[in-house]
Amino acid sequence: MSKVYVTRKIPESGIEMLKVAGHDVVVSEKDGVLTRDELIAALKDNDPEAVLCLLTDAIDSTVFEAAPNAKIFANYAVGFNNINLEDAKARGVTITNTPGVLTDTVAEHAMTLICAVSKRVVEADRFIRDGKYEGWGPLLLLGVDLKGKTLGVLGAGRIGHRVSEIASKGFGMKVIYYDVKQNEDIEKAVDAGFRASVEEVLKEADVVTVHVPLLDSTKHLINAERLALMKSSAILVNTSRGPVIDEDALVSALRDRVIRGAALDVFEREPELAPGLSDLPNVIITPHTASATEETRGKMSEIAARNIISFLKGEEPQNKVEAA
Ligand code: GLV
Ligand code: GLV
Repeated sequence: MSKVYVTRKIPESGIEMLKVAGHDVVVSEKDGVLTRDELIAALKDNDPEAVLCLLTDAIDSTVFEAAPNAKIFANYAVGFNNINLEDAKARGVTITNTPGVLTDTVAEHAMTLICAVSKRVVEADRFIRDGKYEGWGPLLLLGVDLKGKTLGVLGAGRIGHRVSEIASKGFGMKVIYYDVKQNEDIEKAVDAGFRASVEEVLKEADVVTVHVPLLDSTKHLINAERLALMKSSAILVNTSRGPVIDEDALVSALRDRVIRGAALDVFEREPELAPGLSDLPNVIITPHTASATEETRGKMSEIAARNIISFLKGEEPQNKVEAA
C-alpha cells in the first residue's frame, strides 16, 4: 500500500480505482487550487509515494523536494506545460498525462466555438435577453457560412486531426494545416493540404483553430504581426493553451476588426482576461472547459489513476511524457 496525494477533488472513479488497488488516498480538501505554499506544505505533511496533480499546479524542483518519496506525478490533463520536465528528469521523477480520452471532447468544443462565432450565437442570445428583438429582419445579425470555407489547423496532433474530420466531413470545409512535422494521416483522412509555415495558413484560412502544445517555441505563436496576415473576414479559435496567443494583441485586432471574430477557451494569464477582452462583442469566451464533459473528466481521472497504479506496481506507466 502506498500513499497517493491528490491536489484537488476530481471525479471519484479514479480515486476509487486507487483505493481498490489498495492505496491510501488523500485528496486536498480545499475548494480550489492550492497555493504554492499550501501544495508544498501538504506534500511535506503527507509524504506521498505518488501525486496526482492538475494543470493549475506549477510543479518544479521545489515541489519535488517537498515530496522526496513521490517518484511519479500523474498530471490530470493532456497538456503538461505546468510541469518542469527537466527538473523531473534530474530528480528521477516520472511524469504522465491523460491523452486520447479528451480528443473528441475538445475537438467538439472547438467546432462548437467555430459554429458559435460564425453564426453569432452568443451575440444573438444576448440581443434577445437585452430586450432588443423586435421581429425578423433581413439584415439582423448576419453571420457567415462554413461550407466551402478553408479551415487552417495549427498543430495536427490528435485534436487538430479530429477537428479537421468534423469540419471536413460534417461541414464541407477544406482543410489546410501547419505542423512541425508533415502528417500523412490527416492528409489521407480529409485531404488536408500541408503548408510549410504558420504564415501561409494564416493568410489562406477563413477559420484558424489552434492545437499546439505550449512550448518556448509556441509562446505567442499568434502575435500582432501574424494577426495582421489573417483575412479581415477570418475567425480564430484557441482551445490549446492561452500563452500561444498574445492576448493583448488579439484584443486590439478584434477591436480594430483586423479579423472578424475569435473564441477562446484558454487565456494567457488564466483566470485573468486581457483588459478589454470581455467588452468585445466579436469574441466568445469559455472558462477552460473544452474537456469538461461528464464522460471525459471521469475517464481522465481513471487514466491518471491507472498511470499511478502501474507505476507503483513497478510497471512502466501507459502515458509517460518526457522532455522533447
Ligand atoms: C486541458 O487543458 C488539458 O490539457 O487536459
Ligand atoms: C492532444 O491530445 C493532441 O495531440 O492534440
